[in-house]
Amino acid sequence: MKEKQKTRAPRNRTLFVDSDEIPRLKKALIPSSRLKCSQRNRIVLGDFETALEGITDRSVDLLFLDPPYNLDKNFGGWNFKERSIDDYGNYLDQVISALMPKLKRSATVYICGDWKTSVSIPAIAVKHLRIRNRITWEREKGRGARSNWKNCSEDIWFCTVSDRYTFHPDRVRLRRKVIAPYRDGAGAPKDWKSGAEGSFRDTAPSNLWNDITIPFWSMPENTDHPTQKSEKLLAKLILASSETGQLVLDPFLGSGTTAVVCRKLKRDFIGIERHPDYCLVAQKRLLQARPGDPIQGLEGGVFKERNSR
Ligand SMILES: C[S@@+](CC[C@H](N)C(=O)[O-])C[C@H]1O[C@@H](n2cnc3c(N)ncnc32)[C@H](O)[C@@H]1O
Repeated sequence: MKEKQKTRAPRNRTLFVDSDEIPRLKKALIPSSRLKCSQRNRIVLGDFETALEGITDRSVDLLFLDPPYNLDKNFGGWNFKERSIDDYGNYLDQVISALMPKLKRSATVYICGDWKTSVSIPAIAVKHLRIRNRITWEREKGRGARSNWKNCSEDIWFCTVSDRYTFHPDRVRLRRKVIAPYRDGAGAPKDWKSGAEGSFRDTAPSNLWNDITIPFWSMPENTDHPTQKSEKLLAKLILASSETGQLVLDPFLGSGTTAVVCRKLKRDFIGIERHPDYCLVAQKRLLQARPGDPIQGLEGGVFKERNSR
């Protein structure tokens, strides 16, 4: 992740850490064994299970779980190996079991996976949580495969600890172009508006998302992390399922997306990541984020369709 030998195109905005920035960024990280009393808005370096000792029981409002998926993946030199469905289920069970005591009764949990990983998620989640839905989102990236359909979707399982939970669909409406602008008998627009952007409707958020852009090289939020989620994706989950000032926990922080979005949307967070280089990138991103800063694809309180600008 540190900028060593890579040569980048002039318009490439990928965020990286220069070697002279490392001491300052490192100083801001908390080692997982030293986290105390849910110290908030900090990036924790180390294994999430070690850090849990420093997180107060029943303090977390929203848990975002983006663990390694059930496939071979190299995370900066540490390899996650694809395993049987049962073995991946056992891994997930261990992760969720360790985190459960930290959740409030009113907490929400989102669990990410691709199609293979999704086979294991509900079977394990149902042992601990109430499963409410599965969001499927289109991951528009990557080349086609020669002997198979291109993998272009991922899931996010929406779960809660109890039947008492936060959910605000009005904060996550999607603005869509109206193809056939229907008018009522008096000639007034039926359920749509017209403006500088043409005719549009702010639609209710569904469990099928085709408006997510995976971070790519010309976007300032892009990093070299191999499985970075977009700020827009996190913003939807955080806005819908938490209130200002509430605590969001991400035990697999990666490039820091959850931390950055929490800062922009004024939520508290604890983000844990075991890879030192990813922690440095996350810390640099975090230092650049301010409360109220824009999020790509979110304008004036509504989410915009992909490539609508
Ligand atoms: C799927 S990625 C998360 C990507 C992240 N959502 C983002 O937007 O960048 C999973 C991350 O979890 C980290 N990880 C794996 N096991 C971990 C553990 N036991 N404790 C802390 N981090 C871990 C990996 O290093 C990897 O960066």
